[in-house]
Amino acid sequence: MTYTIDVHISPDEVRRRMRADAIAGLQADAKSIPPVWFYDERGSQLFEEITRLPEYYPTRSERRLLEAFAPAIAQLSKADTLVELGAGSCEKTRVLLRALQQLGTLSTYVPFDISDEFLRDAASTLTKEYDPLTVHLVIGDFSEHLAEIPTGGRRLVAFLGGTIGNLDPARRARFLFDLNCTMSSDDSFLLGADLVKERQRLVAAYDDAAGVTARFNKNVLHVLNEQLGGNFDPDLFAHVALWNDEEQWIEMRLRALGPSEVTLREAGIAVRFDQGDDILTEISAKFTPDMIEKELGAAGFVIDGMWGADEGEFLLTLAHPFC
Ligand code: AVJ
Repeated sequence: MTYTIDVHISPDEVRRRMRADAIAGLQADAKSIPPVWFYDERGSQLFEEITRLPEYYPTRSERRLLEAFAPAIAQLSKADTLVELGAGSCEKTRVLLRALQQLGTLSTYVPFDISDEFLRDAASTLTKEYDPLTVHLVIGDFSEHLAEIPTGGRRLVAFLGGTIGNLDPARRARFLFDLNCTMSSDDSFLLGADLVKERQRLVAAYDDAAGVTARFNKNVLHVLNEQLGGNFDPDLFAHVALWNDEEQWIEMRLRALGPSEVTLREAGIAVRFDQGDDILTEISAKFTPDMIEKELGAAGFVIDGMWGADEGEFLLTLAHPFC
């Protein structure tokens, strides 16, 4: 068995978007780079390393929840197709695939991501492991190409890992609304969201003792150097992780340790940094079950179930469009 692939965004288009993000983000008064650009090969490896850090609880917490409740989720959804948004390396997928297989409904897996770099290998492995599973890769951007995800069958659309926290409230609302528009009332949506908790634990998860998250954060500068002909010196920036209490999100920033002038040749820009200047590289919003229920409700979803880890660490929510 092999897999099929639909490409809605080419590597060239991805690079043009990175260039546009760099031009807009680095020339603004409040500088920022969207977190999607962390994940080149090295960035993805560093993220994998993060998921194994003692301080980084979300991945373990979500995995425990999936292992305990995937059978219940499968049973409620009765899905034959698993759609995974931001599939990456398809790691958590197996737990859900297994549960759907045991239920006897599983026929198709649709991983959706912005890059096919890590998906192709994972896809061919999965077709062998779960033969006769049909694997249909979709390469696109979830702010634009949700409507390109194949419909038909009964779909369980999973958006896991707490990645929804990368979106600010306006973007979340748009994303959930767009998603709802592409779903039928027989489909289900499984959302993994990280919960608000003690500030110290939150900050430690994004500022680990071994410095892996710092390397992950600075990796975006390597990516810009490589992809856009930049000359950032990552050693001239410090990793900053802080809890923004007003917004209820973690912010990761890169803070200039001294003055520098950076050029991005292929973006045609030069940027001055003074000591203390920040680039916002990521927000990771944290939720309460109430917030999740409200935001899903506002986007047209009804909740079918919520499963939380001990001490409100992490939350899985299953929902479906109410019409
Ligand atoms: C992959 C977006 C869920 O926000 O926790 C981990 C990324 N950044 N450590 C998160 C991340 C720093 C992660 N998400």
